[in-house]
Amino acid sequence: MRKKIVAGNWKLNTTVPEGIELAKAVNELVAEQGAADVDVVLGTPFTHLTSVVDAVDTERIGVASQNCAAEAKGAFTGEVSVDMVKSTGAKYVILGHSERREYYGETSETLNKKLALALEAGLTPIYCCGEALDIREAGTQNGFVKQQFEETIFTLSAEDFSKIVIAYEPIWAIGTGVTASSGQAQEMHAFLRGAIAEKFGQEIADETSILYGGSCNAKNANELFANPDVDGGLIGGASLKAGDFIQIINAY
Ligand code: 13P
Repeated sequence: MRKKIVAGNWKLNTTVPEGIELAKAVNELVAEQGAADVDVVLGTPFTHLTSVVDAVDTERIGVASQNCAAEAKGAFTGEVSVDMVKSTGAKYVILGHSERREYYGETSETLNKKLALALEAGLTPIYCCGEALDIREAGTQNGFVKQQFEETIFTLSAEDFSKIVIAYEPIWAIGTGVTASSGQAQEMHAFLRGAIAEKFGQEIADETSILYGGSCNAKNANELFANPDVDGGLIGGASLKAGDFIQIINAY
């Protein structure tokens, strides 16, 4: 059975004390009422990783960085390596988020370096993909996202591929309050699972968790997660409120 995962992406929000407070609040709610079959992940800024790992029950909540360096070590001022992330106790790294691709020029080539380093370090990549509005309007979104796969995660070995988590995040739905409809999410997720089956076989496709991201919140998570190919969510804004986040965790 593939895993159900609800992951928060805090992006560029919260100071360290605020992040600790939020993590503690989520930890308490998850302990009291979190669905046992849902893996919970908190994607925090680098500066928060160690403190958030300390603040939560890591048997129950995984911690993620939102990026990592494309180099292992050395003279790369301002970068944070996979080994540094791993040494905080974090278990995941979010890679290829559309905000990194768009604002920081992250290419498939850079992403492939990061994926290789993360996998080698034993971190679980949460690989993000998704199309912009003009591509959705032109109706070419399936081919576009498949191409993203072909340039990156489809170059992995089957063994490495089976270690990653995928998050489909249509750019037009991120932070806009416009969510993909339940039908649009299911259609894309089913298409992607089919593409994975073609590439790596049905067994690996059936085991791959594909999360939905983009204005997913406490109100719409239920309908989105009801789809057979939606295995959870990557949550931005709504992950910053513990009360909303726990409702999304319990939306199955
Ligand atoms: P929002 O939930 O704020 O739309 O952000 C989604 C996202 O980008 C998660 O990575």
